[in-house]
Amino acid sequence: MEKLIVAANWKLNKNPAETKLYFSEFLKLISKEDEQQFVFFPPAINLHVTAEALADSDINWGAQSVYAKDQGAFTGENSAQTLAEIGGSHVLIGHSERRQIFKQTDEDFAAQLKTVQDHDLVPMLCIGETLEQRESESTQDVLRHQLTVGLSQADWSKSIIIAYEPVWAIGTGKVATPELAEETHKFVKLVLKGMTEDEVPVLYGGSVKPENAGELGSQDSIDGFLVGGASLKPEVFAKITP
Ligand code: PGA
Repeated sequence: MEKLIVAANWKLNKNPAETKLYFSEFLKLISKEDEQQFVFFPPAINLHVTAEALADSDINWGAQSVYAKDQGAFTGENSAQTLAEIGGSHVLIGHSERRQIFKQTDEDFAAQLKTVQDHDLVPMLCIGETLEQRESESTQDVLRHQLTVGLSQADWSKSIIIAYEPVWAIGTGKVATPELAEETHKFVKLVLKGMTEDEVPVLYGGSVKPENAGELGSQDSIDGFLVGGASLKPEVFAKITP
């Protein structure tokens, strides 16, 4: 059985000392036989500490965002090339906070995704509708657009992960019902089928915690989770299982 992908988005939380302490505790709580394949996205400034802490484990880690160009006059950005050099494996792309706070567009994400794949890193493209869009019944149009543009330069011979995160469920404690999540994941998979014959994992994100992970994870079309708040404590995150 494929392992359930359980990814931690730490956002702008934790310093290097806290990162070190977290992983020393987390590694004691998990084992190779676990059903989860963990992926961590700490703030970029903590990635060296992360690389050291996870060097002897098979846990994956990567960046919350990278720029579409590898180097140059791009103040404040991070490089996919450098991430690959220091041993990272995954990159979050298109998180709703990148869309809403930093005003990045689907076209920006398409260019980032191409660069990420060029460096043999795995992109985790986040998509999701706002409450207003869900209420006006435009969820399917929004998701189709985010997928079509965001994946317009995708190399389907390489791995891609999608994370469906309804914006109204992120950090709000308001989780999608398993039925609503399943229905939306099915739609996302249908759109993906028009782009590739390969099976693309689709993760659910938005207020996932140990108490709701079991029911969500048992849905056919949910292949894992992207977790914010509940990933910040090792003893809580380690309990997120199908
Ligand atoms: P949350 O965040 O689990 O705190 O809702 C999820 C995310 O933003 O990826």
